[in-house]
Amino acid sequence: MTTTLPAATTPQQADPLTVPPFAVVSGAQVQGALQGREPEIVELVEATYRLHGVGDSVNPPSYFLRFPDRPSSRIIALPASIGGQLRVDGLKWISSFPENVAAGVPRASAVLILNDHDTGYPFACLEASIISATRTAASAALAADWLSRDRPRPTRVGFVGTGLIARYIHTFLAGTGWSFDQIGVHDLSADSAAGFSGYLQQSGTTGQVTVHDSAETLIRSSDLVVFATVAAEPHVSDVSWFDHHPVVLHVSLRDLAPEILLASTNVVDDVEHCLKANTSPHLVEQLTGNRDFLAGTLDDVMAGRVMVPAEKPVIFSPFGLGVLDLAVGKYVYDKLASSGDLDIIDDFFHELRRHG
Ligand SMILES: NC(=O)c1ccc[n+]([C@@H]2O[C@H](COP(=O)([O-])OP(=O)(O)OC[C@H]3O[C@@H](n4cnc5c(N)ncnc54)[C@H](O)[C@@H]3O)[C@@H](O)[C@H]2O)c1
Repeated sequence: MTTTLPAATTPQQADPLTVPPFAVVSGAQVQGALQGREPEIVELVEATYRLHGVGDSVNPPSYFLRFPDRPSSRIIALPASIGGQLRVDGLKWISSFPENVAAGVPRASAVLILNDHDTGYPFACLEASIISATRTAASAALAADWLSRDRPRPTRVGFVGTGLIARYIHTFLAGTGWSFDQIGVHDLSADSAAGFSGYLQQSGTTGQVTVHDSAETLIRSSDLVVFATVAAEPHVSDVSWFDHHPVVLHVSLRDLAPEILLASTNVVDDVEHCLKANTSPHLVEQLTGNRDFLAGTLDDVMAGRVMVPAEKPVIFSPFGLGVLDLAVGKYVYDKLASSGDLDIIDDFFHELRRHG
C-alpha cells in the first residue's frame, strides 16, 4: 500500500516572507489531536519512513547529553528535516531520568520545536512526550504488521518492561486491528506489572492476561514479543527461548545479547542510527566487525527489497528517528491550526527591524 503525506498548511508557504506567529501546544492539546487516530498515525509513520527511504529527509545522528553526576540520566537532541509535502524542520529535545519513576514522575519528558521551512523561524513548541510515545508505538505497530505478513499472524503477545511505552504500543496494536488470545506481562517491578495489567483490563481486551515472573516463560509463550525496558545492557542471551521464531519488537534496543540477533533476521529503522550507542545491533557489529547480520530497514521490507523468512525469529530494532517526531508534531499542529485552536504567543519574536 502506498500512502501519502498530508499537505502542509500555514505558515510554510507564506509569500512574501514573513515571521510566522509562535504557538505553544500543551500535552492536553497533543493528546486530543492524536487520541483514537491510530490507523491514520500509523499511515503517517509509514509514509514518513518511505520518504526517509528515498532520501527526502535530513536526519543527522542524535546528540546524547550525559552527566557524570547522574550516570543513568540523559537528554537527547534529535534534529531533523522533512521534505515532500510536509516541508518542515525541527528538533526534539527529550530527557530520560529513570529515577523519576520511583517518585511517581514519568521517566521521559520532551519538547518538540517546529521550524518554518522558508524563514527558519521556530513557529511552535509542542509538549512532546506524547508525540514521542505515539510515533514509537505507531512504528512498532507498523513493524508488527509488515514483519508478520509471511507467517501466521501472532495471537499471543508478550511485553517485557511495562511502562508508558508498552502501554502506547498495546494501544496502537489494538487500535490498528490486532486482537490477542493471550497477553503476557513481565517486569522487574511488581508495581509496573500490576499497573500495566490493570490498564489491560480497563482497555477492554478479551485476551487472557498472565503475569510471568521470568522473561523466559513469557518469550516462550509469545509469538509477538515487545521489549520496552530501561535495560542498559543485554539480559536475554539464550537462543533456545526463541525456537518458535517469534516477531520481536526490540524497542528498548539493549535487551538482547548478540547471539540472539545472530540467530535472527534483523530489521532496523535506519542502519547508521541504529549501529550506535551500544544498542544490541551495535554490539553485534563490534563483535563481528561487519554488518552482515542486518537484513535491512523496515522501508526495505515495505518496498519488497527484503523478505522476512518464517523459519527464523525476526527482530525489529528501531533507533527512533527525529523525522517521525516532526511528522507527528506537524500533524498535531495542522489539526489545531485548521480548527482555530492554536495558542499563539503574541510578540514572541520582538526585534524584527534590523536597524531598530
Ligand atoms: N526506540 C525508540 O524509538 C524508543 C522511543 C521511546 C522510548 N524508547 C525506549 O523504551 C523504553 C521504555 O520506555 P518507558 O517510557 O516505557 O520507560 P518506563 O520507565 O516507564 O518503563 C520501563 C519499565 O521497564 C522495567 N524494566 C527495567 N529493566 C527490566 C528488565 N531487565 N526486565 C523487565 N523489565 C525491566 C522497569 O521496571 C519499568 O517498569 C526505554 O528504554 C526507552 O528508551 C525507545
